[in-house]
Amino acid sequence: MSSPTYGVRHIAIIMDGNGRWAKRKHLPRALGHKKGVEAVRNIVRVAGEMGIEVMTLYAFSSENWNRPQEEVSDLMGLLRQYIQSDIDEFVENGVRLKVIGNYRALDSDIVAMIDNAIEKTAQNSKMTLAVALNYGAQDEMLRAVQHIAGRVRSGELEPEAINLSDISDALDTADLPPLDLLIRTSGELRLSNFLLWQAAYSELYFTDALWPDFDKAELEKALQSFGHRERRFGGR
Ligand code: FPP
Repeated sequence: MSSPTYGVRHIAIIMDGNGRWAKRKHLPRALGHKKGVEAVRNIVRVAGEMGIEVMTLYAFSSENWNRPQEEVSDLMGLLRQYIQSDIDEFVENGVRLKVIGNYRALDSDIVAMIDNAIEKTAQNSKMTLAVALNYGAQDEMLRAVQHIAGRVRSGELEPEAINLSDISDALDTADLPPLDLLIRTSGELRLSNFLLWQAAYSELYFTDALWPDFDKAELEKALQSFGHRERRFGGR
């Protein structure tokens, strides 16, 4: 039986708790991240089967560079492996890959791999997997402001004429539907610089489950919670 999605089109997830998952099991942190990638693979499949249109995942924040160098390189290694091993499945399952964030600052081989995967999956339309890499919402908004300032300088746009769509259209998520549900795992109650503009009217769902344990049943719980909420978008 197919699971109800309560009209949710776009889900974003702050995947937190890989380190704690590993610690609880007396395993190295790197194994927690490895398990985290397995959870990504599973949840992307599950969301596709449910008919979710867009899944946006916070894989590497612009602040994550401050982690120990070994951990950063573990995460980059996992990213390389993930793209390499799953690109064929994306093509088969109609998944379009998109990246948000300033990913061009990553190692050049990863940038090339990402560009190739984006190109290969560009025509897919069943689901979009948007991976946030070197992403920070404030940085995204800064880049949007710079873009709009350029339009003003060129005389294309008057400052007073700038509207909300000009801003949304200058964000990395310009082509995505509104964010319905933002999930954070591992019990932390913060947005951590993720999709700050896009989350203006999203429902927020926090769970104590650690990311490697986040499976279909957990996603169904989040969707059910969404289904019980009344969205008013500022009206009454
Ligand atoms: C948080 O765990 C997780 C991250 C640093 C980002 C998520 C990364 C992955 C799931 C792996 C890479 C993803 C892809 C798409 C290849 P944490 O280390 O902050 O956990 P802790 O707070 O328990 O220490």
